[in-house]
Amino acid sequence: MSSIVLASGNAGKIREIQAILQNDNILPQSQFNVVEPEETGSTFVENAIIKARNASQHCQLPAIADDSGLVVDALQGAPGVISARYAGVGASDQDNLQKLLRDMQGVPDEQRSARFICVMVYLRHADDPTPIIAQGVWEGRIMQAPAGDNGFGYDPIFWVDDYQCASAQLSPDIKNQLSHRGQALRILAEHLVVQ
Ligand code: IMP
Repeated sequence: MSSIVLASGNAGKIREIQAILQNDNILPQSQFNVVEPEETGSTFVENAIIKARNASQHCQLPAIADDSGLVVDALQGAPGVISARYAGVGASDQDNLQKLLRDMQGVPDEQRSARFICVMVYLRHADDPTPIIAQGVWEGRIMQAPAGDNGFGYDPIFWVDDYQCASAQLSPDIKNQLSHRGQALRILAEHLVVQ
């Protein structure tokens, strides 16, 4: 497989993606000084395509991008595509998580359903009209208070029913097996093999 640019600067994501796709030629866009585009889409798919197209155009290589976030039923899908900046631009994971807990105050347990979504896209070139799109969904529930130190983002308040604990209490290996990102990556990997 030839080189693919990854529209992400997150070292953890890059390692995860290289391992699952078994490809060392996945190069982070930071190596090419790609300027990150504005994520103007209102869906995960749109934003993932915007990021992949931008990277592909800049590097003249095939590109992979992902967009992910948390969707909460009681909040009509919020924080959704603005998960990373739910409490405002520049907000920390802690700020976002605390805002979500405040917004969910008084919501009973049976109405606290939520899911993590991850969309991964692969563009063969910037004008590719048929991107490969893979989506992973991880069902859970918003807890009343945080627990656990692993992971990032909303992991301390995402209840995982199968393991009876917060996502932040799972080992990284177990999280990868279950998570929206792991699922989307494995689906994408299957499609890339039959290319
Ligand atoms: P991005 O796809 O890296 O832009 O992530 C969007 C945001 O969604 C992150 O900043 C987190 O707040 C949230 N998020 C996405 N995936 C996860 C996860 O696996 N655990 C916790 N939070 C996540």
